[in-house]
Amino acid sequence: MAKTQTTFFCKNCGATSAKWVGKCSSCGEWNTYVEEVIHKEKNTYQKTWKPTNSTTAVLKPVMLKHVEKGSEERYQLADNELNRVLGGGIVPGSVTLIGGEPGIGKSTLMLQIALQIPDKKVLYISGEESETQIKMRAERIPYRNETCYLFTETSTQKIGKALQELAPELVVVDSIQTLQSELIDSTPGSISQIKETAADLIRFAKETGTPIFLIGHITKDGTLAGPKLLEHMVDTVLQFEGDRHHVYRILRTTKNRFGSTSEIGIYEMQGNGLREVTNPSEILITQRDDQLSGIAIGATIEGIRPLLIETQALVSPAVYGTPQRNSNGYDTKRLNMLLAILEKKCGLRMGAQDVFVNIAGGIRVEDPGIDLSLIAAIVSSYHSMPVDNSIAFIGEVGLSGEIRAVSRIEQRVAEAEKLGFKTIYLSKFNKIPHKSGIKLIEVGKIEELLNYLFG
Ligand code: TYD
Ligand code: MG
Repeated sequence: MAKTQTTFFCKNCGATSAKWVGKCSSCGEWNTYVEEVIHKEKNTYQKTWKPTNSTTAVLKPVMLKHVEKGSEERYQLADNELNRVLGGGIVPGSVTLIGGEPGIGKSTLMLQIALQIPDKKVLYISGEESETQIKMRAERIPYRNETCYLFTETSTQKIGKALQELAPELVVVDSIQTLQSELIDSTPGSISQIKETAADLIRFAKETGTPIFLIGHITKDGTLAGPKLLEHMVDTVLQFEGDRHHVYRILRTTKNRFGSTSEIGIYEMQGNGLREVTNPSEILITQRDDQLSGIAIGATIEGIRPLLIETQALVSPAVYGTPQRNSNGYDTKRLNMLLAILEKKCGLRMGAQDVFVNIAGGIRVEDPGIDLSLIAAIVSSYHSMPVDNSIAFIGEVGLSGEIRAVSRIEQRVAEAEKLGFKTIYLSKFNKIPHKSGIKLIEVGKIEELLNYLFG
């Protein structure tokens, strides 16, 4: 009987070692090695599928200017949010990994995409659910594709055979952690299995030009399960996020070989699948009649889209010795910085207050252009004085309390104007021509802003 063979794998970069080591010699990370059983029958190993075109020709270096431009067109999906996030449609032969928490809607999104392409042969491979379960889900979704095939299988060898026989034009794999190569003894989801099965699928995509979507699980700390190497291997990595108790879901790119990584797509989970949200600003701002303190509207940019969001703050005297700072959707370190500026430059006693901030709608904002809006919300709550709901704020706050210019100011102002805002506070360094319908108030320091608002 063959002896069981084990190897140590680095969880970070996928490097292998015959014995356990504390520090990975290839990526330098500590304590990342895990032992896994492998058993590769080298003699019987064969490629799962054969390449369709002859790639055996000897390749030589060529001059860049002589390389022909790709003539292949991107495939436009009916789903404009996903098109935009991918950088303008699906690139032939591309491999996209989509990760997200359990129950967030990854399977729903992918099945919906599969059913939205009526003119293509799509293969939906599932190692997680049975055919009837998928059928039940498909019944809820209002799209139909007569040439969508299902395959509930986890062995890459069997999947390879099916791919070769069916020759689909788009493949969805739900999920990469359930697949298993028969040539490796370790359990599905282990590093060696993920590496092997992903490499097999990627080879298929590249050799046949078939785009593949891989669904991936994420670990407790929110990163994609499996080796970091998996993210290096694929072309595009998407994160599907949002609060499971909210209806809004955000699709974000963290890596994209064919487009920008700053795009987001917004969906709403409904009883019949995910609906694209085309007017995000309208849903992110609460409709309110009465004036409430601690709320201010900021204009941010996500990718190329301007977005108006509601920033909320609650400031109340600290009951315990150490005041609490808590933030949802905004960087806590940056919040601490804003509070220190308010303390030093405006003399507000923030050190004795608990401060909670929240970005409405469960979204996360990285853009410092909403600093000004947060300052307005915090001071509004501090003084219990509301900010008029026809005002929007645009500006980054610097360490000495100066209000700095932000990018794409015209688009932000235009979006605010479109949504009916009457007044905009912005940095005096952001020079834009004054328009008739909207009042632009230029401010240089936060003291000036607070004078205008709470004077
Ligand atoms: P699912 O796609 O299975 O999540 P994942 O694959 O990321 O684990 O679906 C998640 C949730 O979505 C599930 O709790 C039920 C809900 N849902 C709807 O609200 N409407 C629908 O039309 C569908 C199909 C699911
Ligand atoms: Mg699922």
